[in-house]
Amino acid sequence: MAAPVAVNLGAKARVFSSLNRTLHMSLVYRRMATDRSIVNNMGDRSTWNSFYEDKENKTFDWFIEFDDVYDLVNRYLPKPGSVRPGRTFSILDLGCGTSNFSIQAHQKVQCESRLWCVDFSEVAVSQLAALCTERIKAGAGGRSAPGRETHFAVADVNSLPFKDSFFDLALDKGTLDAVLRAKEGTEVAISGLCEAMRVLSPEGHFLHFSDEHPDVRLDLLEKARNRYTHANRHVRISIGFKSVNENSHSFEYFLYNMSKIDRKE
Ligand SMILES: C[S@@+](CC[C@H](N)C(=O)[O-])C[C@H]1O[C@@H](n2cnc3c(N)ncnc32)[C@H](O)[C@@H]1O
Repeated sequence: MAAPVAVNLGAKARVFSSLNRTLHMSLVYRRMATDRSIVNNMGDRSTWNSFYEDKENKTFDWFIEFDDVYDLVNRYLPKPGSVRPGRTFSILDLGCGTSNFSIQAHQKVQCESRLWCVDFSEVAVSQLAALCTERIKAGAGGRSAPGRETHFAVADVNSLPFKDSFFDLALDKGTLDAVLRAKEGTEVAISGLCEAMRVLSPEGHFLHFSDEHPDVRLDLLEKARNRYTHANRHVRISIGFKSVNENSHSFEYFLYNMSKIDRKE
């Protein structure tokens, strides 16, 4: 991953980017959601429950599919033989919705592995669990594949039911974007990022897909890093980003990474 690049375009650019983002988000969500009220209530659990009820038990991937970014994600998956025998490579999907994304990433892992799909919408979690069970019955891999477990939990990104250092990789596609639209969204997002850092292993990576431009989003990630490392002084966190589709004619998306380096290890 490229070294962290902090682009500071100044206050005017930030305001422009923020307005641009709002317009862009409205267009994206208007296109994707039949009910426009979702755009204004993305921090509410009930909004998401209704959203997934309307999707009628089908997988739904927010703005990017796994195959579009396979190369970017693959570099964070363990190489064959790199995980010591007896160790389980663990992936967390934060705000999984009914997305196929982390399930496809998990299927690429060639060692003992587990995936936890977490969302505060109980409708999303139960639909995704049911879809996975159907696939397993149809023989398409999943929970029962040898050495590969998939689990589901209803939880808020702010309060994850996992012990410290449990995961090697955490994924977020569109979840922080939704959290930021909640009341007190910035604070909820920062504390969610700190939770993600807490549950990551000493060398773990957090990958975050968003449409928000780095001149705005990096500020948030840096605030979360400062808060986490202030309380955990032995930890360093590197932050980087990359455009996912800079040459395409559609809206630009970004992959941000926060990679943990524990100096105690
Ligand atoms: C834009 S959708 C993205 C879903 C999925 N990651 C995808 O790529 O399709 C945002 C998801 O975040 C979940 N979410 C929003 N706020 C949350 C919170 N505070 N805790 C846990 N999940 C949350 C919503 O229920 C929704 O499933």
